[in-house]
Amino acid sequence: MAESQSQSQDKASGGKLYVVGIGPGSVEQLTLKARDVILNADYVLGNSTYLDQMESLLGTQEVIRSFMGKEVERARKAVELAKNANVVMVSGGDTNVYGMAGIVLEVAEHESLDVDIEILPGVTAVLAGASILGAPVVTDFAVISLSDLLTPWEVIEKRLNMAADADFVIGLYNPKSRKRKSNFARAIEIIRKYKADSVPVGLVKNAMRGEEEDQIVTTLGEVMEYEDWVDMSTAILIGNGESRIWKSPKKDIIITPRGYHKKYDY
Ligand SMILES: C[S@@+](CC[C@H](N)C(=O)[O-])C[C@H]1O[C@@H](n2cnc3c(N)ncnc32)[C@H](O)[C@@H]1O
Repeated sequence: MAESQSQSQDKASGGKLYVVGIGPGSVEQLTLKARDVILNADYVLGNSTYLDQMESLLGTQEVIRSFMGKEVERARKAVELAKNANVVMVSGGDTNVYGMAGIVLEVAEHESLDVDIEILPGVTAVLAGASILGAPVVTDFAVISLSDLLTPWEVIEKRLNMAADADFVIGLYNPKSRKRKSNFARAIEIIRKYKADSVPVGLVKNAMRGEEEDQIVTTLGEVMEYEDWVDMSTAILIGNGESRIWKSPKKDIIITPRGYHKKYDY
């Protein structure tokens, strides 16, 4: 059945709620399915920054703008509207990665919402950043947010210690905000207890947001030289003990070998 047909049926049967990951930035990073449900929605809700990113898709839908810190209110509104309409809640990157999927489902559960809910994945920031940096991940990796707004700092420190001790490649989200200036420095201090100073580090700001995108390739020993450069739009990737920097003729590229070199000649 064509998507638009199934959506008009959903509408007739009392609405549908989509929580949609819109990817890291520009509209071409959306999945085709995400694009389709956004175009066919009655209501689109989201943080204003993310709605701005996909402005070219907004026209016929009713758009409800919200702001950082208003996630619970926004989730309640989406659940309420979904009782009678096709509703899309947009979330930057992937909605399961520090995104809106969790709070929307919690509110829906609390209200015993009896409409279909569909969560659509998107490209998350550390993976968008990884592609810009080269191949820094490829093997086991851990993702840690440095925001202590909803997670106690002691828990974050424990996760940093354990991920670094196990030599995971580490992706850091929410390295800084206006109120949290020192969390990034503290995280690097912890990770340096376990990983060598030579380990590659990639910093990517505004990944896949056109001309705003910027990147730095450095090492764990030197990353604090770029502390002032890091902001709330930056994702960070810290390699494992085997990661290296290829100084290619075009740019510095991070490679984390998966282990093929141990089995094959190439
Ligand atoms: C609340 S988290 C949301 C993550 C999002 N759900 C995702 O999957 O990418 C916000 C953090 O994600 C990172 N981030 C989001 N988009 C980014 C981008 N385009 N470039 C670099 N970092 C980004 C930053 O670390 C930012 O502080």
